[in-house]
Amino acid sequence: MTSCKFIFILAIISVTIPRLHADESEDEWFQRKLEESYKASVEAHHDDPVEVIDHFNYHVNKALEGENNSTRRGLGQKYKGECKAQNPIDRCWRCKDKWESNRKKLVECVKGFGRNTTGGLNGEFYTVTDDSDDDVLNPKPGTLRFAVLQPQPLWIIFARDMTIKLKAELLMGSDKTIDGRGFMVHIAGGAGITIQFVRNVIIHNLKVHDIIPGPGGMIRSSFDHVGQRGVDDGDGIQIFGSQNVWIDHLSMWNCTDGLIDVVKGSTGITISNNHLTKHDHCTKVRLQVFLFGASDSDPGDKVMQITLAFNHFGKGLVQRMPRCRWGFFHVVNNDYTHWLMYAIGGTSAPTIISQGNRFIAPPDPKAKMITHRNNVVGDEWKTWIWRSEKDVFINGAYFVESGEPLKAKPYKKDFVKAKDGSYVRRLTRFSGFLKCVKGVKC
Ligand SMILES: *[C@@H]1O[C@H](CO)[C@@H](O)[C@H](O)[C@H]1NC(C)=O
Ligand SMILES: *[C@@H]1O[C@H](CO)[C@@H](O)[C@H](O)[C@H]1NC(C)=O
Ligand SMILES: *[C@@H]1O[C@H](CO)[C@@H](O)[C@H](O)[C@H]1NC(C)=O
Ligand SMILES: *[C@@H]1O[C@H](CO)[C@@H](O)[C@H](O)[C@H]1NC(C)=O
Repeated sequence: MTSCKFIFILAIISVTIPRLHADESEDEWFQRKLEESYKASVEAHHDDPVEVIDHFNYHVNKALEGENNSTRRGLGQKYKGECKAQNPIDRCWRCKDKWESNRKKLVECVKGFGRNTTGGLNGEFYTVTDDSDDDVLNPKPGTLRFAVLQPQPLWIIFARDMTIKLKAELLMGSDKTIDGRGFMVHIAGGAGITIQFVRNVIIHNLKVHDIIPGPGGMIRSSFDHVGQRGVDDGDGIQIFGSQNVWIDHLSMWNCTDGLIDVVKGSTGITISNNHLTKHDHCTKVRLQVFLFGASDSDPGDKVMQITLAFNHFGKGLVQRMPRCRWGFFHVVNNDYTHWLMYAIGGTSAPTIISQGNRFIAPPDPKAKMITHRNNVVGDEWKTWIWRSEKDVFINGAYFVESGEPLKAKPYKKDFVKAKDGSYVRRLTRFSGFLKCVKGVKC
């Protein structure tokens, strides 16, 4: 994220561009959208985040009822047995017969801060048949870009295996699900996905990789708006000023900037079951896996609430899983098997509740510390709430806690305890893209 991302030099161009607010300049449009989205985020944000944490942990415990530490079942080998879903999100849909004729069941499965996300639930199905992306102003029917720009809710599926090389950022509309189940769909070799000034988006079961910066220029950003955009950073997915987003079962690697950025007061977000790898190719210092909050001078991001669960941070990752500012972040039951510098970082007093993760430190004795507080001055960081509960630390990994433990509301007796980090391997075993075949349990 850089401030130069959006370029507004539109005095001349705007004459030729149709738009609804005829008298509005491009930067007025942007400011209006930013204000509207901030208001929507204040509304979408949850007043009692501890309730959301409890609800999440309750469901993990329930899904693992009767399971214990001693059952290992050859973890580590490639799994060939019958369908086995061990986390509560997957358990809700994966091993059911006929997932294909009951795709919308997925919306009952999301947990965490994004749990109200319904995507295209109330819309029709739309099948992407065309992998091209030639016209970013007036996209061709049948393309993914055409589908995501429609004003009405849509549940978007694919007709076959395909690789979509985006010519420019894919600017999503509200109330959409991109559901890649059934085929192998890659978003690769071109620009990434941008979820900007919208609400209610699900992105499910895709491979997103080798993303390069989009060139900018005139791009249709919604059915009723075309705007001039600057060169983007080359994030896999960027969530900007948006509410209720769920990103589930993606395999992501090698994006020029971050894999996923969440910025500008976006909230109500769950990022789950993803497999993140190979992100160390670039020498840029800014390199990041997940960036949550882009600016230390933007306290508007306090409204940000994100659940990061059941993800596997695998080979080739360096740092920032995530890198947080201002908001409230529940980092729960993730598997951190590789990092080179640190795992979780932050500035501007974010709240980070780390529960039931497994952290395996790298061999480098200087990189055992999981947590990294950037540019801290004095002792101020000691009041930031960064807590670790039931995490498992391997190979010398350690978490430097700060701040007070979270308090339950007075009327509640106790928290639901997070599931211990020793269960993480099981909970994240099927992270990333799933090869779902029609007619067979996924
Ligand atoms: C663990 O689970 C297995 C079966 O899954 C059971 O046989 C065993 O008694 C359990 N052990 C404990 C300590 O609960
Ligand atoms: C699981 O086993 C580990 C040791 O392998 C132990 O430290 C941990 O406390 C156990 N967790 C539970 C919930 O029994
Ligand atoms: C989801 O929606 C319900 C009903 O509108 C609301 O009470 C709840 O706070 C929302 N949950 C989250 C996590 O935002
Ligand atoms: C990463 O993606 C870029 C851009 O698509 C590509 O040129 C490069 O070969 C990829 N690197 C690896 C290691 O795959």
